[in-house]
Amino acid sequence: MGSAIKIKRVDFRTKAVLFVVFLAILFVLLHYLRWMHTAVQAQNPRKMSDKRPLEWWKTSVIYQVYPRSYMDSNADGIGDIKGVTSKLEHFEYIGVGAVWLSPYYKSPMKDFGYDVSDFRDVDPMFGTLQDFDELVNQAHKRGIKIIVDFVPNHSSDKHEWFQKSCRGEKPYDDYYIWRDGKRDKDGKPIPPNNWLSVFGGTAWRWHEGRKQFYYSAFLPEQPDLNFRNPEVVREMNDVVRFWMQHGADGMRVDALEQLFETEDLKDEPRSNLPGIPPFQHEYLKHSFTTKLPEIGDIVRGWRKVMDEFESKDGSSRFMVIETYEAPEDRNRFYGYGSNPFNMDLVDGLKAPLTGTHIRALVEQEYIKLPEQGWPTFVMGNHDRKRVSSKFGAEYVDALNMLLLTLRGTPCTYYGEEIGMQEIKVTFEQTQDPWGKNFGPDRYQEFSRDPWRSPMQWDSSKHAGFTKGSSPWLPVHPDYTMRNVKVQRESPQQTTLQLYAALAKLRQDPVFQRGELLFSVTDDNILSYVRQIPGSDVSRYFVVFNFGKTKSKNDYSGAPASSAKGVVIQATCSLIDRVKDKEVGLNDLELAPGDGMVIKLL
Ligand code: NOJ
Repeated sequence: MGSAIKIKRVDFRTKAVLFVVFLAILFVLLHYLRWMHTAVQAQNPRKMSDKRPLEWWKTSVIYQVYPRSYMDSNADGIGDIKGVTSKLEHFEYIGVGAVWLSPYYKSPMKDFGYDVSDFRDVDPMFGTLQDFDELVNQAHKRGIKIIVDFVPNHSSDKHEWFQKSCRGEKPYDDYYIWRDGKRDKDGKPIPPNNWLSVFGGTAWRWHEGRKQFYYSAFLPEQPDLNFRNPEVVREMNDVVRFWMQHGADGMRVDALEQLFETEDLKDEPRSNLPGIPPFQHEYLKHSFTTKLPEIGDIVRGWRKVMDEFESKDGSSRFMVIETYEAPEDRNRFYGYGSNPFNMDLVDGLKAPLTGTHIRALVEQEYIKLPEQGWPTFVMGNHDRKRVSSKFGAEYVDALNMLLLTLRGTPCTYYGEEIGMQEIKVTFEQTQDPWGKNFGPDRYQEFSRDPWRSPMQWDSSKHAGFTKGSSPWLPVHPDYTMRNVKVQRESPQQTTLQLYAALAKLRQDPVFQRGELLFSVTDDNILSYVRQIPGSDVSRYFVVFNFGKTKSKNDYSGAPASSAKGVVIQATCSLIDRVKDKEVGLNDLELAPGDGMVIKLL
């Protein structure tokens, strides 16, 4: 009897244990299936079989123009809108479908246009509103879209809203973030907390008139707008409407991370990163001043305004967010009706390059992409070093090839199509306030001037950028050899010609909506197949050597599953030897910096 009871008890325990194990296995299995589903979705999105046309921003190459540095039409040494209009043919030649213009708004230029004193007008330095309209008109005639830079987080201190706010005039008194602050023992005002500006030093600025501090995440001349005030939200919605009315096809949203701060003004905790002085932004963690959840509703509001226009003419309006977050964080922006920039190739990629590292960065985008997501890969911008300086000039062609053959929209910073190099700037020549803030000893760590030098158009004086006596920043001394004209006319393939050819190749639906399957990857090599499964369109094999030594491999197994192909594009380093030639995939050799696009046979 006793033993029967015992057996029963053991039985029950065993059953319970088995049940828990069963639950655990089920849990793991479900997670695995969910992960697999996401991965497969990313590689084989339903869009591939979907025959509907893709929105323009999925099929276009986006090209960032920094207007100050692009083309000067009136000989004052500073680029302008008419200058950009005069270069529309260049965009066509390089196969660009959309141009993102950095700010051209009225501005005292403390942060070169990111300090806006009138959100609805063009700075005379860049031209007039009519010039903007004309640019949009001419661009649209050529099928090129215009993406404006929207700077919602702050205005200039010269904006009339701020001027009125300083005087306490209603309703502007609450348009900015004003706080009383504290007093030291001598009665001197001290900032309400330890919050730091991105450009260094306290983010609180004393205003003698209002006897209060205002908050600014960047320069003191860039006071932060108060998005907790519905009037500010309405004003900025109207600014979006204004530029849509003027024909903009999309907008890049600046500094969105900083849009809200917590209201309780608690000190931010130390980051404890080694070697960071207390006035530098990285000295603190920024959980009270960046990435607050309130941002979502504001972005949804802008989307609503853009949708008003989209529903009228049926043409999609594109909103892309400046963010440097990891995919699992930035993907939330899709849910708000916008797209995040993928800056992994800008900030995540470090020298020396390896195939393995690049694959990991690209693959994580695809695996983590939500169903409604679409990658927007960026290789550089006006805030980050040029490709040639980061990785070496010998990898410029391969990196352009990578950007233009990935699945997702590519975004190129002006000048990368000719492999522009950075200029050297002395402290005296330094223009960027971020560099100036850190003084002669450390300006080079922060100044963004080296990669904002004038575009190199031809071999004439100042690279054809200006007919004036001096451009606002020095032109790179290599301009006589490295410029658009020389590279366009060269009988030998150049970086520019390769860029243009690849951008045209990207019009092939395989590169727009086909899946991307990674092949051999190691320290040197990155390779992948682009194909549309179940269709009879061409399949392509793309292979690079990003390493430092020669590499010979057999690529003929899956996913290429082919012994040969014809080289249709290659980096300038090897194009002459391989163009249009049939090559065997079983022993393909690539030197450092080589890259090829092979049509599989
Ligand atoms: C981000 C812009 O890209 C950068 O150039 C600017 O300095 C800051 N926002 C402040 O507006």
